[in-house]
Amino acid sequence: MRKPFIAGNWKMNTDGHSAVKLAESIVSGCSDLDSGSVDVAVCPPFVYLQQAGKALSSSRVALGAQDVYFEQKGAFTGEISAAMLKDIGCTYAICGHSERRHVIGETDELINKKVHAAISGGLLPILCVGELLEERKASKTAEVVTRQMKKGLAGLSKEKMSAVTIAYEPVWAIGTGLTATPEQAQDVHALIRNLLAEMFDRKIAGEIRIQYGGSVKPDNARELMQKEDVDGLLVGGASLKADDFVAIVKSSV
Ligand code: PGA
Repeated sequence: MRKPFIAGNWKMNTDGHSAVKLAESIVSGCSDLDSGSVDVAVCPPFVYLQQAGKALSSSRVALGAQDVYFEQKGAFTGEISAAMLKDIGCTYAICGHSERRHVIGETDELINKKVHAAISGGLLPILCVGELLEERKASKTAEVVTRQMKKGLAGLSKEKMSAVTIAYEPVWAIGTGLTATPEQAQDVHALIRNLLAEMFDRKIAGEIRIQYGGSVKPDNARELMQKEDVDGLLVGGASLKADDFVAIVKSSV
C-alpha cells in the first residue's frame, strides 16, 4: 500500500508573520493523526522557509521548497541550491511546477537537471506534469504527459527514482476552480503508472506515489483520493487556510 502524501504549495503568498501562524495551525491540526497514516508537507516561499520550518520542528509536517536550482554553488544570482535547502531543514523540493514551466519558461531539460540535483543533494523531488487546456482539447494529454515524464526523469537509476513523487496537475485545473473529475485524474494517473513500469519496472511503478493537483478542496479531496492510482494531493489555494488544508489531510486517511 502506498502511504498517502498531501503537500501544500503556498506559492508567492504569506508574509513572515502569517507563514509562521499558518505552519503552527497546520501542526496543531495534524497533531492527532496517527504518525504512520499519511505524509504531510508544506512548501512556503524561500524567504520564509526557516521561520515556517521552526514552527514545524519536531512535528509530523515536513518542509518543502517550491523550486531548486541544479548547480551546486557559484555565480548563479538569485538561485538556491539543494544543499542550501537541505541545510535549513527541507525534505522535499517541487520541480517543474506548471507556473514555472508556463510563466517562467522552464524546459523539460532544465527540470530534469533540477530533479537530479535535488536527489543528489538529499532532497525528495516532487515532479509536476500536466497538460494545458488546448492540449487536452486537442486530445494531446497522453502525449504531453509522456514527454514530460520521459524527459523529466531521464537518466535516473531505479534507486534514485524511488526518491521521487509525481504530481499530475492539469494546468486548466490549477487555481481555476475547475477540478479534474476523479475519473479524468485516474485515467492520467494510470497512464503515469504504466509509464513508470515501462521506464523502470513494475515494482517501482507500484511504489511511487502520484499526487493529483488542481483546485483540490475539502469537498472534493476524498473522492479524488478514493481512486486507485491517486496517492496524494498537491494543494495550492486551499493550503493557505489551515482548516481547509487539515480537512484535506484528514480526508485522505
Ligand atoms: P490550486 O493549485 O490548488 O490552487 O489549484 C495547485 C498547484 O498549483 O499545485
